[in-house]
Amino acid sequence: MRQPIIAGNWKMNNTIADTKVLLADLIPLVKGAKAECIVCVPYTNIQTAGELIKGTNIKLGAENVHWADKGAFTGEISADMLLELGVEYVIIGHSERRQFFGETDETVNKRSITCLAKGLKPIICVGESLEERQSGAYTAILEAQTEKALVGIDKSELGNLVIAYEPIWAIGTGVTATNQEANDTIAIIRNKIASLYCRNCADNVVRIQYGGSMNPKNVADLMAMPEIDGGLIGGASLNASDFSKVVKY
Ligand code: 13P
Repeated sequence: MRQPIIAGNWKMNNTIADTKVLLADLIPLVKGAKAECIVCVPYTNIQTAGELIKGTNIKLGAENVHWADKGAFTGEISADMLLELGVEYVIIGHSERRQFFGETDETVNKRSITCLAKGLKPIICVGESLEERQSGAYTAILEAQTEKALVGIDKSELGNLVIAYEPIWAIGTGVTATNQEANDTIAIIRNKIASLYCRNCADNVVRIQYGGSMNPKNVADLMAMPEIDGGLIGGASLNASDFSKVVKY
């Protein structure tokens, strides 16, 4: 019912030249995958990536978008700019943006609303720090992040957004949440969505990914968990062979 969805988040990696090499390798490897396959690339690579993946089963994503239509926002990129290049998905509120670039639950909400209004699909990231995990505060924090991200978003839009649960302590560390931890935490987020919208919306419409050191070795076990609908992949998305193995888990 919920189609698996694997997205690569290249972060600040790959020049245009690197993009050409990586995608040329990746395209044949992911052909025929059952999971929806997305690459979220730096702004400067979007045009090149879009041209290269045209006619393939790889979809195009960006790593952020501003909420305003246009204007005096130096360094920002608008939804129309992304749409013109064929972008379909946009990562919103990644923990690196929250930690290093002042992203808040409120700006995550504004960006997500703009995405949906414009026909872009936000991949909304939520996740707790190690301290929040260890203190047990993570449940309340994830529920609050989820609720605040979704303020003003109508039930009819839930099929057009994706949530990515990314525990900060598992990102780029090689430490993965256990299958059970990832599953149970995603269930907390899904239950929150059920209470905000409806049980059916949560169970049958909204897809929730796990992110944090997902790789060819652990992907099958994570994806076998009932709550986990996909992955948001950092490091392992930078290597065509590794990423294709994750996509074709
Ligand atoms: P890693 O897969 O490198 O841990 O990164 C996860 C991530 O932050 C994806 O958005």
